[in-house]
Amino acid sequence: HLTVNQYLKNHIRTVADWPARGVQFRDITPLLQDPKVFRVLIDAFVHRYMDKNLRPDVVAGLDARGFILGAVVAYELNVGFVPIRKKGKLPFTTVQETYELEYGSATVELHTDAVKAGDKVLLIDDLIATGGTMMAGKKLLEKLGASVMEGAAIVDLPELGGSAKLKASGLPLFTLLDFA
Ligand code: PRP
Ligand code: HPA
Repeated sequence: HLTVNQYLKNHIRTVADWPARGVQFRDITPLLQDPKVFRVLIDAFVHRYMDKNLRPDVVAGLDARGFILGAVVAYELNVGFVPIRKKGKLPFTTVQETYELEYGSATVELHTDAVKAGDKVLLIDDLIATGGTMMAGKKLLEKLGASVMEGAAIVDLPELGGSAKLKASGLPLFTLLDFA
């Protein structure tokens, strides 16, 4: 009698010392590789956001693994998908947001016509660590007058404080499992 969440957690691969010594990297690729597991994963999100009170106008996905999940979820919800990309990849006019990493900084971009003022957006990524990426995505969407109705991810790493920080900023979060 496995819960869906435990079943999914059993399909995450932990890789020690990658990309740097001391990091336990939570690799989601096994969830995508097995079609039965992939369907359970996607259905966990689709089931929640099909509800008429939680149905978004648009799904935004964070570069790069948020694209894989976000595109499929958007397709199933019959809403559009917009990519939030790392700097220098989007061809049209963009809004930009720079945020701090452990070493240095990163910039993400969104096309200025990706969402409309007033849109309710579901923001998706694979994993929340420090929360910097998802916070930057939220700010980009808000610069265009949209509101993020929820942030969603497969994995939360609560010890890094990102999910607490995001919730403190007023962003509701939905994650399927965590690694303490
Ligand atoms: C990872 C992950 C999230 C982000 C989480 O992406 O997929 O997007 O980091 O970290 P944070 O909560 O501390 O911001 P990564 O930067 O490795 O990019 P990639 O998807 O292009 O590999
Ligand atoms: N897995 C995937 N992405 C990540 C991780 C991880 O463990 N930590 C920070 N970003």
